[in-house]
Amino acid sequence: MRIHFYAYLSFVFFMVSLNHTLAADEASDIATGFGSLAWGLTIVGFAYVVVRRAQVISKSYLSDDYKEVKDFIREFYRKFRQPLITLHYIVNIAATITAIVHGILLSSSELPLVIAGWVAVGSMILLSLSGILIWARFKPIWTYRESRTALRLVHRQWLFSGIFLLGFLVHLAFT
Ligand code: HEM
Ligand code: HEM
Repeated sequence: MRIHFYAYLSFVFFMVSLNHTLAADEASDIATGFGSLAWGLTIVGFAYVVVRRAQVISKSYLSDDYKEVKDFIREFYRKFRQPLITLHYIVNIAATITAIVHGILLSSSELPLVIAGWVAVGSMILLSLSGILIWARFKPIWTYRESRTALRLVHRQWLFSGIFLLGFLVHLAFT
């Protein structure tokens, strides 16, 4: 864990020093590239949410006239749930780290853009932390059973996913 932390810290220092040594244009291209990468990774990570919602909604609301579609979605969900959720964990952690690096590298931009960006990153950090706690079944302060409800509330209620999306869109509007 410690090694990972130092590796990550070195990476951030490397990126920041790269920012100082490269020509201004090149450095800002790389920094902007990190933003696009963060967004791309978030979309990939979202595949799990889409497939899960499709399953839940089709099960509850699709009439039996569409039995074939229902069966297809159920089967697809059963087969791909595990790989998609693993992808959701890994890719979203990578997206959060990438967005943090992007934000640090471009922190001296216009204020509204920076604020909106950090609002988006803040919710990514909250989602990642709550996600990791659910995933790893940590016992933060309370027992897992009690904290799971609170953690799921933070992670799955769409509040922070909504704040993330809003922050991201406002941030893009200022670029
Ligand atoms: C942490 C705070 C953030 C800061 C300070 C920040 C800063 C910036 C700046 C200055 C630009 C414009 C670069 C340019 O036009 O040359 C930019 C573009 C961009 N940022 Fe951020 N950003 C932040 C967070 C985020 C987040 C959370 C995401 C997505 C998850 C993101 C994704 C992007 C994208 C996709 C672009 C446009 C890239 C393009 O035009 O090709 N940024 N950001
Ligand atoms: C940072 C961007 C993230 C966003 C926007 C996000 C969004 C979501 C959403 C909306 C759901 C609910 C799916 C549904 O049932 O409709 C979900 C579920 C889940 N996410 Fe994330 N997530 C993110 C990152 C992570 C990370 C980094 C992890 C773990 C390492 C994670 C772990 C989970 C788990 C375990 C569930 C299932 C929760 C349960 O059923 O109790 N998420 N995520």
